[in-house]
Amino acid sequence: MNLSSLSNRNLLLGISGSIAAYKACELLRLYQKHGANTRVIMTKQAQEFVTPLTMQGLSGNEVHTDLVDYKAESAMGHIQLARWADCLIIAPASAAILARLAGGEASDLLSAVFLATTAPRLVAPAMNKEMWAKQATQKNVTQISKFKDTYIVQPESGWQACGEIGEGRLAEPTQIAENTSAIFKSNSLAGRKVLITAGPTQEPLDQARFISNYSSGKMGYALARIAVEAGAKVTLVSGPTNCEPPDNCSLVKIETAQEMLEACAKRASVTDVFIAAAAVADWRPQSYDANKIKKASMANTLPLIENPDVLIEIIKLLPKHAVKVGFAAEATNLKASATAKLKRKKLDVICGNLIGESFAKDDNKILMLFANKPAKQLARMSKLSAARQIIKEVSQLLKN
Ligand code: CTP
Repeated sequence: MNLSSLSNRNLLLGISGSIAAYKACELLRLYQKHGANTRVIMTKQAQEFVTPLTMQGLSGNEVHTDLVDYKAESAMGHIQLARWADCLIIAPASAAILARLAGGEASDLLSAVFLATTAPRLVAPAMNKEMWAKQATQKNVTQISKFKDTYIVQPESGWQACGEIGEGRLAEPTQIAENTSAIFKSNSLAGRKVLITAGPTQEPLDQARFISNYSSGKMGYALARIAVEAGAKVTLVSGPTNCEPPDNCSLVKIETAQEMLEACAKRASVTDVFIAAAAVADWRPQSYDANKIKKASMANTLPLIENPDVLIEIIKLLPKHAVKVGFAAEATNLKASATAKLKRKKLDVICGNLIGESFAKDDNKILMLFANKPAKQLARMSKLSAARQIIKEVSQLLKN
């Protein structure tokens, strides 16, 4: 665990009312051990689980609890706290605080600071599995993940304090600390070469028409952004999109599947990670008419020929150590179809999503399936948050 990027950072830890509040003590110790400056905000309910005195002792600073506190306002009120923070971490985040954050409420100190800060925000939910699974909670998490510079740390599955077994347990402090460190600078892909395909392809029929699909390219571009942040040299081979590529990324614009294959093939032999996020058109018109085909001369059927599978072809050219990641866009039967694709395409990871829930949207709900470890269902979250989770998994696979 390399948490060196936490050194000298101002970390503001927000604790809300959950039995998992005791884990915040360990998280705070981890931050300090790695050289961070720490301050703590506790909600009223959090103080029922852990005392402010404990957190004061651990952080070395007075704990902030009230939105309206004359003494605090003259020293460090909510606006000063919001400005002081290099990162706000809310762990554990109860269902109640998630609802307040999602709704933009500022009725207590923690939600007011969440609203006032311009620093990145990391939210680690913790609650009973039924509460986590409820539509209202999932909607709130999705909403929060869409806020600028705001990331969700997925809760874990396992034994819960209420005696049940299921998803909703606070992620381990080490994992939350790792996610915090990643916000500043994860060097997890330092020096690595990452090749990413993104967007749709367009297969021309004549001067005026082409075959394509609804892919927006947002997922592939989010992956490129996070991979650059993680220190990788990124080549993004992209079909036509309106997305903004990240700085320091080499963008190769293509239109057809054949062009995508050629652009990727040139770079494959030096690639450490290949991520195929593009929605490649599986078929192209058999012939191209340099003019516009007239209505009267258009046949009843359109002869098509199959395009190459870019992912399958590029995998043949990659170095042995390379990590291979595909996507599976499915209309139904997500798990079974994605599992079959993982095997058929000889991938290390496949990110499955339902087309209706992902295409052209800003967020996504991804089921990650691995060749050699158990599956992970991510909550619905922004594509940037999802990309962060995917790149984290990829970095770990690269180390093995
Ligand atoms: N892919 C590719 N080239 C193709 C088709 C797909 O590189 N010609 C890649 C996609 O980028 C994705 C994965 O293969 O990573 C799976 O794509 P998907 O469209 O879900 O599956 P297909 O292989 O096209 O199978 P089907 O259409 O039957 O679901």
